[in-house]
Amino acid sequence: MTIEIKPLKKKIAILISGTGTNMEAIIKDSNTNNYSGIIKFVLSNNPDALGIIKAKTLGIKTFVFPVDKNNSLEIFEKRVLKLLKKEKIELLCLAGFMKILSKSFIQNYKGIILNIHPSILPSIKGLNTHKRVLEKDIKIHGATVHIVTPELDSGKILGQVTINILKNDTPKKLAKKLIKKEHQLYTKVIRNVIKGNNTIIQEN
Ligand code: GRF
Repeated sequence: MTIEIKPLKKKIAILISGTGTNMEAIIKDSNTNNYSGIIKFVLSNNPDALGIIKAKTLGIKTFVFPVDKNNSLEIFEKRVLKLLKKEKIELLCLAGFMKILSKSFIQNYKGIILNIHPSILPSIKGLNTHKRVLEKDIKIHGATVHIVTPELDSGKILGQVTINILKNDTPKKLAKKLIKKEHQLYTKVIRNVIKGNNTIIQEN
């Protein structure tokens, strides 16, 4: 009897709160050739997250741990940490996850946490980045994939993509232009991370 030894794949989980288009791109990429990871599950704090339906359609296991008046973020984090441990998740990707993870969660999780943020960090941390970039006199916007550390939107940058801001751009138009680039950037960075490739991606 011959035993076929296949390469071991890094176990990945994705946290979302909403639409989940980045999540969808990551799952689809994981189904293509030479992918050295496996998406074990998608988890949301939001029971109404559209991304949960998308993940199910794509055949991925899903979990919803609500954060509401009966369930604090602390309870949520405990449940998530337990699941990450049980499933031996090595890479946790935040993709439109709208809660700020606590210092204790980040320090207790032994794998890598990545996030995609819609600005050229370190510029414009936090929310409403498309609106805020238009209020500044700058002509370039973009997105960043970075390692999550206890300080918000400040961990090591692993990849960035830029877009030009045009005269008639609105927050909505910028978001629409950027999201497709985000998908390309995030999937490429994840491929690098699971292969142990330290190259920093810079795209236009
Ligand atoms: C993206 O713009 C991402 O950069 C930000 O939240 C948005 C999520 O979009 N963190 P989606 O849920 O992936 O469609």
